[in-house]
Amino acid sequence: MEQERGSWGTNFGFLMAAVGSAVGLGNIWGFPYKMGNNGGFAFLIVYLLLVVFVGAVVMLGELAIGRKTGLGAVGAYGQFSKKHRWVGGIGVAAAFFLLTFYNVLGGLVMRYMMGFLLQLMGVDGFNGQEMSFWNYILHDYGSMVFFHIVFVVSNIIIVMGGIEAGIEKFTTVAMPALFFMLLFVIIYVATQPGAIEGYKFMLTPNLEPLSSVEGFFSVVKTAAGQMFFSLSLGMGAMITYGSYLNKGEDLQKNSWIIPACDTLVAVMAACAVLPGCAAFGLDYASGPSLLFNTMQNVFLSMGTFGNLFGFLFYFLVFIAAVTSSISLFEVIVTWKLDQARERGKKGNRTVIICVAAAVSFAIGLPVALDAIGGWFTQKPGIVPAPYQLLGMEFGAEGVPMFIDAWLDFFDVLSEGILMPLGALIMTVLIGWVYKTNFVREECEISGHKYRLPKVYEACFKFITPIGVTIVLIGQIMDFFL
Ligand code: TRP
Repeated sequence: MEQERGSWGTNFGFLMAAVGSAVGLGNIWGFPYKMGNNGGFAFLIVYLLLVVFVGAVVMLGELAIGRKTGLGAVGAYGQFSKKHRWVGGIGVAAAFFLLTFYNVLGGLVMRYMMGFLLQLMGVDGFNGQEMSFWNYILHDYGSMVFFHIVFVVSNIIIVMGGIEAGIEKFTTVAMPALFFMLLFVIIYVATQPGAIEGYKFMLTPNLEPLSSVEGFFSVVKTAAGQMFFSLSLGMGAMITYGSYLNKGEDLQKNSWIIPACDTLVAVMAACAVLPGCAAFGLDYASGPSLLFNTMQNVFLSMGTFGNLFGFLFYFLVFIAAVTSSISLFEVIVTWKLDQARERGKKGNRTVIICVAAAVSFAIGLPVALDAIGGWFTQKPGIVPAPYQLLGMEFGAEGVPMFIDAWLDFFDVLSEGILMPLGALIMTVLIGWVYKTNFVREECEISGHKYRLPKVYEACFKFITPIGVTIVLIGQIMDFFL
């Protein structure tokens, strides 16, 4: 069975693929703008605490469930109890919602990449709108849909290659390359006048944003959603990856390395974007446009070389994005493959991925066509944003953030609600129903030591579920306040 499903060639390959899944637009696009929106330093601290006390624990839980059962999310919970299959189902639903906006952003990354490539060849790659390209492209609906399709098709091609040939080869080179690219941008940005303000924003101990009840919950819930999203947690993606992992590997060690690498890249991205933002006089709280607009300034300021670096940067971000989105597709594909096998059939990978891609593309269309709610440009898109459907006025005060745009709506639905919920249920199941002993056994299987048993016991039973409950309360407050 193990053979037939395929497994990772080496632990390094597994790590690179898992890190490849974790490191994506969440780190490079999401983390800097969410940090910018939520008070810089305060957000950073809350985020780091969440990674340690929630992220690393949920990571171990998911990997253990996956490797023990050798199945994808739905099948894995099903093996513990038929009645728990729906927990895996939450993950499959979340995968679809994440993909809707992930694909659109992936497409945008490709558009910027192509823009710099054209510039490099002496052609105007940004339609004469170099500096305000974001505002321009959001209303260029033909391009939005075209690049959305290109991104989705890239995914199909890779996932069709299967687990080893497709994912593993790809990530082993790209992840280290991305690291060095970020390092280069950080160093360049550091030489720009005014960048220092960005470091101050990130590092001056200012907990003021946490001082009110509302502020506290708001930062915690945003940081937590971001953490689940960035670490690919709370929806069974890591169950799926763990199911392909050899029994000989040290689970616990892997469950620390992945969050550590992911957090490093997120913080590096923030170190590039936020000081860049300060140096070029942009607003930290610009939202989803922050990465794109800041980097546009950074690369243009480099002169001729900027086009080359701009191209390389977006190329690597594209790779990071695609290695993440394939892991989202993989959640859906493994679910369907396991289901087919259960019925004694083989299951057709190609058909499954194509259907999943088509569905996620269709649900993602409004994300591509509502011009991110029109907020940036004061001009609504050709598809009504959620607030418009609700009969609210364009640009009105007091409209909750998550109905600004389909992007925010799907974002909150997946990383704000479904993923914390999935993680909460998982930790409660492990802590109280399946019992942490199975995690321990799974970790010790190949003679590795299970470290910090008491801490993990407390985390699975109390600390992590309570932490996630606070997050969900924050989310619910947002709906009703
Ligand atoms: N972690 C990825 C990012 O930061 C997104 C992602 C990929 C993901 N696969 C996932 C999120 C599975 C949750 C679950 O961009």
